[in-house]
Amino acid sequence: TRTLDGLTALLQGLDLDEIPTFPSADPLRQPVDIFHAYLAVALQALVGCDAQQAYDSITPANTVGNGDLDIVLPKLKLPGDPNLQDLAADITRNFPAHPLFVVPWKDKAHVRFCLQPKALPRILLPYILDRGPSYGILQDPDSPDPPSDQKTVLVEFSSPNLGQDFRTDHLRSTILGAFVSNTYEAMGWHVIRTNYLGDWGNHIGLLSLGWDRHGGSDEIFSKPPGEAFRAIHDIYSKMHDEMEPKIAAKRKKAKEKQEGASPVEEEEEEAIFAERAAAFKRLEEGDAKEVELWEKIRKISVEYYEGTYKKMGVVFDDYSGESLVCRDGKGVQGVEEKLKELGISEQDEHGLWVVNFANHGNVKLGTGTLRGKDGITGYLLRDIASVLHRHEKYGFDKLIFVVGEQNQHFQQVALVIKLMGLPEIEAKLQHLTFAKNPSVPIWGESGLLGDILERCEQYAQLAAADSGAFPPRLQVNEKLNTLGINTLAIQELNTRKGNKGISTSFDGEALMLTEGETGLGLQLGYARLCTAIDDIGSSSGSSSSSSSSSEIDFSSLWEGSWIEVLRLLARFPAVTNAAHKSLEPGPLLTYMFSVLDELGYCLDDVEEEDEAGGQESDGSKFAARSLLFRSTKQVLENGMRLLNVTPVS
Ligand code: ARG
Repeated sequence: TRTLDGLTALLQGLDLDEIPTFPSADPLRQPVDIFHAYLAVALQALVGCDAQQAYDSITPANTVGNGDLDIVLPKLKLPGDPNLQDLAADITRNFPAHPLFVVPWKDKAHVRFCLQPKALPRILLPYILDRGPSYGILQDPDSPDPPSDQKTVLVEFSSPNLGQDFRTDHLRSTILGAFVSNTYEAMGWHVIRTNYLGDWGNHIGLLSLGWDRHGGSDEIFSKPPGEAFRAIHDIYSKMHDEMEPKIAAKRKKAKEKQEGASPVEEEEEEAIFAERAAAFKRLEEGDAKEVELWEKIRKISVEYYEGTYKKMGVVFDDYSGESLVCRDGKGVQGVEEKLKELGISEQDEHGLWVVNFANHGNVKLGTGTLRGKDGITGYLLRDIASVLHRHEKYGFDKLIFVVGEQNQHFQQVALVIKLMGLPEIEAKLQHLTFAKNPSVPIWGESGLLGDILERCEQYAQLAAADSGAFPPRLQVNEKLNTLGINTLAIQELNTRKGNKGISTSFDGEALMLTEGETGLGLQLGYARLCTAIDDIGSSSGSSSSSSSSSEIDFSSLWEGSWIEVLRLLARFPAVTNAAHKSLEPGPLLTYMFSVLDELGYCLDDVEEEDEAGGQESDGSKFAARSLLFRSTKQVLENGMRLLNVTPVS
């Protein structure tokens, strides 16, 4: 079924002519398009319209309850403005018997069609199994030669700050960013996964101060990355705890001053602010000692993160970070010169270089600082320079920032780039945002990604020991660990979907739920299917799986949940397309759980039959079911791969 000729041969068995062609039909990738094309021709013959018009009036049904294909009568645009209700009745009544469809029904201005159960398994099951990991996916990730017109997307996600906590928004960004990257890859894009480390800025100055005050030493760098990272993080945390009240007091004072409540005279600022800035300034100016320390800290932190992300199935192509455009000075300096030259930036009353967006037609964006006190580079300046740097390096067609909140910041970045006379680059930027949910602490608040993941592993172990829902095949520590981390990913993606049952992430209780739309639910359903496939394999012998689909009697799949699973499987490519377009994981998750629900009924049937002693080996039934199960397994795996979870069986 990999070629049109192959598909046509398959369809000839059903007394059909060659597949009708339409420009927007993609029968080799979307099985529903095969049905769509034949339906268009039948409709054309019936109402005498143009074939393309007929094709365009048909859409895939929005829910399974509405059938599989839907003629939307207003879209047919028939001359003479016929009464649509009457037209629906006419079409329904006169639609000739067709090998691919059951009798349609009318629904206001729609005529709805279900795919013919007798045809569906014969076409779809070989279709899915022939495509395997690339069913629902445009580009097989392992295929050797990418298309010549392949586009490049940079997906920037996770991006924690050196020394600082790995926050909830970093975690969400990691999980969402991995999903976004996968959907692009699935649609044939060249994807560069980028981690824009917060490896430059005032906090590095603070870390350097802490290094001297809280026992930093070279010994730390000879420890394994996990231990070294924890030691660095500890040092930073001590400084952070010292700073926090001072920052709060400073903010309070600034606010009071603004409101006129406090005397206006300048007060002495706490010394640590100046010390922090001075340390960072030394680094920016290339002071050998500061640079050496920074390099060592950065190196071991990246090592730690690489190993830890790997447990989540995330591998970055690039850890460029904020430092990249600052270290040689040229990146940021070039931008600054240009901004001055074009009159986009200006010096404010304190001598800082800023962009006052009110002067550029956007009052709402306020003022953005390019260089702060003492001439230190700012976050905004670094981001602008790194967009331009990356554009030069990768020539990307799209750059997606997966970052919680920071909406104003990314609007500022985009506007400055546009003002610089680069609207074509600005048009390629997209900020995928989400709420930070700061009220939810990460367990134990250690602030280390590795600790969060370990906690998930423990939860999975606990759930396995407690719930009795885990089959023996999953009772293996290594598998449970993967499962725990997968579960976190599913929970995070589900939270984005707005799942009511789980209002926050980092909820251990919720992570251990084995039923419903949860990570464990997904994995247990998948494992149950794997067990069923093994069972069928051992009771039906090896002959069935090798028989070609034209010899198989599919009649056991023509009804009940069996046909419902098939109808769902046919939709999978449309679901992955939609996931790519919206970059939302919700519909894909919903889809996966509906497949598992329907499949669950099929598996219940099988178990009941087994208990009733129905082993009198019905070869063709086994063969048909085995194909359905294997196809379903493939679809679940392809979906999981997009969601960035590892199927555990
Ligand atoms: N490191 C930043 C933080 O922790 C996130 C970086 C977001 N990406 C960017 N291009 N500014 O908040």
